[in-house]
Amino acid sequence: MTQVAALAAGRSYKETLLEALDLRPGQTALDVGCGPGTDLGGLAAGVGESGRVIGVDQDPAMLAEAANRMADRPWVELRDGDAHALPVADGSVDRAHIDRVLMHVADPAKVLAELRRVARPGCVIGLAEPDWDTLVVDSDDLETSRAFTRYTTEVAVRNATIGRRLPRLAEAAGFTVDAVTATTPVFRDAGLADKILGLGRNTRRAIDAGYMDESRGRAWFASLSEGPFVASSTLFTVVARA
Ligand SMILES: C[S@@+](CC[C@H](N)C(=O)[O-])C[C@H]1O[C@@H](n2cnc3c(N)ncnc32)[C@H](O)[C@@H]1O
Repeated sequence: MTQVAALAAGRSYKETLLEALDLRPGQTALDVGCGPGTDLGGLAAGVGESGRVIGVDQDPAMLAEAANRMADRPWVELRDGDAHALPVADGSVDRAHIDRVLMHVADPAKVLAELRRVARPGCVIGLAEPDWDTLVVDSDDLETSRAFTRYTTEVAVRNATIGRRLPRLAEAAGFTVDAVTATTPVFRDAGLADKILGLGRNTRRAIDAGYMDESRGRAWFASLSEGPFVASSTLFTVVARA
């Protein structure tokens, strides 16, 4: 997560989304699935000491890391909870942020309904999610690249095409969508792409699941670190209001 945030494209979509939230001093901002606190500092700066930031996550290790990072900002509060049943009062939030969380949850529509419940009238929300069906990996063996993407979309990621669905889901939850944008980071480093996209791990799993032939899959993965490397995948961001 920290590596994704450190990539140039990662920084730029995060900065743009934070700007779009148009945070004001004294507001209450919510970060659902705050992880290790990557975005809490930006939210805290936006609402200032007179405001409040609530970070919710279900992973105690993530919350501990976030608490450590935010130790000097007492207006940031961390809550252990599930995005499907937010530990947040009705109509109490001015701004809300969800970045790469809906791709993992059991019911994204329910999470957005929860967001609508806790939103004050006029609340601005910022959503960012990838669409793994847009994953392209350069190789002479195009068929295996496609098989890898198909495995990622159909098996590896729970809600793999959530990116393109965000505007529809946000409208269905009762939000008005103001802006939809797409960012496509390009990976040129096979090692970094392996860490972030799970190329090696998921090639093995795709072979085991019958998405690609064993020797062809192995040769495909080995060839990725042999020459110039190019892979990309698109992330969608949506800004909407209650
Ligand atoms: C990919 S990380 C993103 C973290 C952070 N938003 C960021 O951009 O760095 C996904 C986070 O969502 C959390 N998460 C996943 N499902 C959740 C759920 N149902 N309720 C609360 N948190 C959840 C995970 O624990 C993890 O910290």
